[in-house]
Amino acid sequence: MDEKIIDQNNLEYTRLQKKILKERGFALDHYNPDYIQRRIAVRMRARNANSYNEYIRILDNDAQEYNRLFDALTINVSQFFRDPSVFEAVRTQLLPTLIREKKQSGDSTVRIWSAGCASGEEPYSIAILLKETLGVEMKNYLISLYATDIDHQCLFKARESVYSKESLVNLKKEYLDRYFTILPNEKYKLSDEIKNMVIFKYHHLLKDISFPALDIIFCRNLLIYFTQEMKEQILEMFYKSLTAHGYLIIGKSELLFFSKARYYFYPFNSLEHIFRKERRKGLVKDYTGGERRKKWWWGLEQPKEKRLGVTVLIVDDSAFMRLTLKNMLIRNGLEVIGEAENGSDAVEKYKKLKPNFILMDILMPVEDGLATVREIVQNDPQAKILMVSAIGQETVVQEALQLGAKAYLTKPVTPDKLVATINSIISETTQKR
Ligand SMILES: C[S@@+](CC[C@H](N)C(=O)[O-])C[C@H]1O[C@@H](n2cnc3c(N)ncnc32)[C@H](O)[C@@H]1O
Repeated sequence: MDEKIIDQNNLEYTRLQKKILKERGFALDHYNPDYIQRRIAVRMRARNANSYNEYIRILDNDAQEYNRLFDALTINVSQFFRDPSVFEAVRTQLLPTLIREKKQSGDSTVRIWSAGCASGEEPYSIAILLKETLGVEMKNYLISLYATDIDHQCLFKARESVYSKESLVNLKKEYLDRYFTILPNEKYKLSDEIKNMVIFKYHHLLKDISFPALDIIFCRNLLIYFTQEMKEQILEMFYKSLTAHGYLIIGKSELLFFSKARYYFYPFNSLEHIFRKERRKGLVKDYTGGERRKKWWWGLEQPKEKRLGVTVLIVDDSAFMRLTLKNMLIRNGLEVIGEAENGSDAVEKYKKLKPNFILMDILMPVEDGLATVREIVQNDPQAKILMVSAIGQETVVQEALQLGAKAYLTKPVTPDKLVATINSIISETTQKR
């Protein structure tokens, strides 16, 4: 093609991109350009537009065209139990492991997110499996099953929960009999029992904040549409939203291998693209600090003779916050002998490392800071715990102090305030002896 035509084409495409971003807040450049241009071409052909400029004029004059364009852009085909072998692995491996571990840790919450849920087929399949796995034990669990999408029409259809036969081809006959009723128009209506297990919400993966403390994230057949940069952003968000050992399930044609995420997830069932969050042995990489964190930390390490003999365990789910606190403590002669990213990790490390001090966050996955204080103080009433939390509500502060915390600081904390508080706790407790 003539270079001038290509330039003109690029110019017009950029105009279209800007227009869609300005008028509808949808950033086309987040998505794979080949895919996006192919989908726009479908609409242009349908409207006999021979150039992007012509198509821009159509968008100006026909508000409905935006809806048709978004329909074309967000391919939302789905099915119940799409890729049945994945759901079989979820049923036979993932859910039994999750439930066993929940029982062992005494945690009765189950939090799952189906991101890019289309018309609900995926989250409803998950709900059916939960019901089948837990049976009468369902009542013992607090289940949160979120399902999100950017397509309002899809979400409307999901809430309606009426499906055609084609959506149900992978459904086992027993599930069909148990959870669906056939309507006069040959469509199938899902039972309220399953329907009511799912919370549908509008959620844009690149813009909206995520759900915390999730046990499983399903994000299938969606990542393929994004550019590498956006994929990294989304995978990092997933990593942060999952509990310490949460699961991520991606589509059968999607890979983690080419992403940074390969360092942060290990295969639980590689064939079915089910991953689990856990750092690989020997790697100290972290999304918030990367390799630099290790070097930075080494640079800061204080000589042994400057240590004041006060050892500290830092408990915070944010690696950045742990590093910041560590930095403040080390510079002031205290020795950080351990870090924990959630409550149950903290209880274990406190028993093992026996630090003089604990800095404790409150909002953390698995076990929050208040529950952790209770558990630690029950085992060791002498434990010196200093709360460092973003929550400043008086009721929470009082509860922490009643549970046995020695003091409470609200983030952001300054190094002076932190060290002064630690010193006053030390002098108070030595005076009492
Ligand atoms: C192909 S469907 C996948 C449905 C289901 N996960 C499955 O595997 O069967 C992709 C869905 O992602 C949604 N989607 C596209 N971009 C999105 C975004 N930025 N945030 C949230 N959902 C998005 C689309 O609306 C569509 O419903």
